[in-house]
Amino acid sequence: MTKSDHYDLVLAGGLVIDGTGSPGFVADIGVTDDRIANVGDLSVASASRRIDCRNKVVAPGFIDTHTHDDTALLLWPELPQKTSQGVTSVVVGNCGISLAPASFAAAPPPPLDLIGDAQTYRFRSMGQYLSQLESNPPAVNVAALTGHMSLRASVMERLDRTATRSEIESMKRLLSQSLEDGAVGFSTGLAYAPSSAASIDELVELASVAGAADCIHCTHMRDEGDNVVTAICEACEIGRRANVPTLISHHKLLGRANHGRSAETLAIIEEARRRQPLAIDAYPYVASSTVLKLERVRQSTSVLITWSRAFPEATGRTLADIAGELGCSEEDAVSRLSPAGAIYFVLDEADVSRILAWPETMIGSDGIPQDEFPHPRLWGTFPRVLGHYVRDTGLLSLEQAVQKMTSLAADAFGLSGRGTIVAGHFADLVVFDRSLVADRATFLEPTLPAAGIERVFVNGRMVYADGATTGARSGRVLRRGSLASPMARRKQYMQHGTYEVQS
Ligand code: ZN
Ligand code: CU
Repeated sequence: MTKSDHYDLVLAGGLVIDGTGSPGFVADIGVTDDRIANVGDLSVASASRRIDCRNKVVAPGFIDTHTHDDTALLLWPELPQKTSQGVTSVVVGNCGISLAPASFAAAPPPPLDLIGDAQTYRFRSMGQYLSQLESNPPAVNVAALTGHMSLRASVMERLDRTATRSEIESMKRLLSQSLEDGAVGFSTGLAYAPSSAASIDELVELASVAGAADCIHCTHMRDEGDNVVTAICEACEIGRRANVPTLISHHKLLGRANHGRSAETLAIIEEARRRQPLAIDAYPYVASSTVLKLERVRQSTSVLITWSRAFPEATGRTLADIAGELGCSEEDAVSRLSPAGAIYFVLDEADVSRILAWPETMIGSDGIPQDEFPHPRLWGTFPRVLGHYVRDTGLLSLEQAVQKMTSLAADAFGLSGRGTIVAGHFADLVVFDRSLVADRATFLEPTLPAAGIERVFVNGRMVYADGATTGARSGRVLRRGSLASPMARRKQYMQHGTYEVQS
């Protein structure tokens, strides 16, 4: 390198954890425009801005593989919930719920109402939604999935049955158009009423559209409790028949009777991975959260209400407490509060740890930003992994944790040029203090921003610093890379015994 080298920004002397899983090294990172221009000794280079990162970690910005930020990106484009955690890209449209393509005359059926009301669902095409994000950009990058329930609700009058031939054809057309418009995959939420009546053939036909486009199929499985093994087998069968890489979302084991079974489920997933591209993501908490449902209440030791339309004053209180006050059973309280949302204490720490430690597990927060009293995963997921599970318990090495939050996710979703620190990649970067990084959001104070995340850059611009968003909104819509993702290439390899040459 020569003295004439000039960078817009140099992050100097940090411990670079590059996202690949290989050991950290001390280096300077030079950024020009929206890209990482150089990684090495840039002590004599000139820079418009030089930031001392000694004793700090510099990592690729985190990719939140599982979000429900579809509407939040439009409402709060600086997205402090995520930038304060070092997240620079979010995947929206998970669990079968996507804001586009869908529109409703009346209130959308639960759980589609988790991300908005009839006014919010106004994008008849994925293209319209993505161009809205492009003309009014958020602080983070966005990759979008197309949700099965949104497709069903768009083409079917009644959702309690399997789709007819012509409805399947309509959904396939909508999905195919969405992928052409830039969506990176197809998601399902088979545990929820609006899609649980779908037959496996309906699901295979739709997943095949994603497979043919070299996109991904993400699934919130039909069952995460007693019948979890059947559900995993169904997810794998859909992936194989549709010839599509499959991601099992927020893998977990619900209910005391199923605690400890992650040893069994991970063995099944590991075995299936020899036959097909398969991945999972998870969040680092022992409580789950979704709409208020009796079935889930019955599996839980305690339930916290996150919102209630009929009974707003229940927000932030336990269901047992409310039932006591109303002088009714918890069952009755559920119907009196509904529609509502809840946090369920229903998982086992040993399962959470085992799943997080599995080498292929990515990190997805599953936060629900519209909740008045959200699950703390919304504000705390990534710093909790780095603080609690890396520093405090030693479950993961720093390199492993960062890899789960970055390159594994970029590979699975085909987000080219992101997820690792290497010259030429986009400058999505986070600077944090490994001795201080911690989640501060708790079940009682769920919106406290994390500690220890110092600076966050998205496409070369600083979006978060010194505990606040900067106002910069340099996020972009991420479309599937022009080269097939490693997951898709793995699929080709399994089929043909060779990687096809990309034209
Ligand atoms: Zn889900
Ligand atoms: Cu979800």
